[in-house]
Amino acid sequence: MRLGEARASRRIVFSGLGALGVAAALAGCGGGDGDSSTTKVVGGTELAATADVPVGGGVILTEEKIVLTQPTEGTFEAFSAVCTHQGLLVTSVEDGVIHCANHGSAYSATTGEVDGGPAPSALAKVEITVDGDRILAA
Ligand code: FES
Repeated sequence: MRLGEARASRRIVFSGLGALGVAAALAGCGGGDGDSSTTKVVGGTELAATADVPVGGGVILTEEKIVLTQPTEGTFEAFSAVCTHQGLLVTSVEDGVIHCANHGSAYSATTGEVDGGPAPSALAKVEITVDGDRILAA
């Protein structure tokens, strides 16, 4: 059954140039969610397939406001995708860095710590579990 995969594909914004249009659309819709730095997802919810998350990169789940990363092969991390600067969603993950192109913040894709730009604090960690080829909310 690939229903989950199909569902996930609608929610996932892959990192890279494709994310820029979405980021621009989000910015043009009146901004982010302000203080919604925490993401509430029911435990056991499938977030993505492991194959969806590139090594060194990541995917941004706009609906759940979670960014999934794979800093090194087989190691997956998850963080709130809500930038701590002004609450907009981060826009891409490349070369181990989570970028927020809205004002230039950057975060470590391994720890969520600030790696540059105006962000005042780290992205909140989101607990996940990996079950075979699926990444689930913990
Ligand atoms: S909202 Fe992310 S850098 Fe400003």
